[in-house]
Amino acid sequence: MKPEAGFFLTVEGVDGAGKSTQARRLAARLRETGRAVTLTREPGGAPGAEEIRALLLTGDPARWSPVTEALLFFAARRDHVERTILPALARGEVVICDRFTDSTRAYQAAARPGGMAGAPPALIDLLHREAIGLDPDLTLVFDMDPEAALNRGLARKTDEARFERLGPGFQTRLRESFRAIAATEPGRCLMVDAGGDEAEVEARVWAAVSARLP
Ligand code: TYD
Repeated sequence: MKPEAGFFLTVEGVDGAGKSTQARRLAARLRETGRAVTLTREPGGAPGAEEIRALLLTGDPARWSPVTEALLFFAARRDHVERTILPALARGEVVICDRFTDSTRAYQAAARPGGMAGAPPALIDLLHREAIGLDPDLTLVFDMDPEAALNRGLARKTDEARFERLGPGFQTRLRESFRAIAATEPGRCLMVDAGGDEAEVEARVWAAVSARLP
């Protein structure tokens, strides 16, 4: 499904790890080198997908079960891939996407506080394969202590904090999931130490990405 021309890069990690800032910095730096870049994010990135985003990120943490959430995230993702990501790749652009299917693998598969089971990983993989069928060329997994990350995240005081409100135990499970994903797919995924100041992390990101870009 992936057009040969472009380069598809995703950034992943626990809430508040600073990946959105780094994605913006990376996009700016790539544009300075003359590359065309589409910077986008999930859930969202297309008008219909943004409407689904509001359903997913606001309100009571127990508003949806993990399976219902997974279906909504994949509905938003399909719209985003069709309308934004594939057209940009076909134009030969670098697409930087803030979160993608690895976030569903981590967030929706994890057990919830109170003991509700997560969505079955096999269901998530099936939906990804059959409804999305597009894998990143490179995924940067921002790794940091979830408690420190959560403090940063909640400090932003947005009303889109449904997942951040699930608490530190949940975030610790997420970090483990992201690490496991990176270990399972070392060809696609690269762990980035998200600790330290922004300029240090930016230098790590640049070293990783510039070595991999065609
Ligand atoms: P956002 O405000 O963009 O958070 P961040 O800046 O940390 O990326 O909100 C995205 C939230 O949605 C985040 O808490 C992770 C969650 N999420 C999922 O649970 N599953 C998914 O598939 C995706 C893409 C995001």
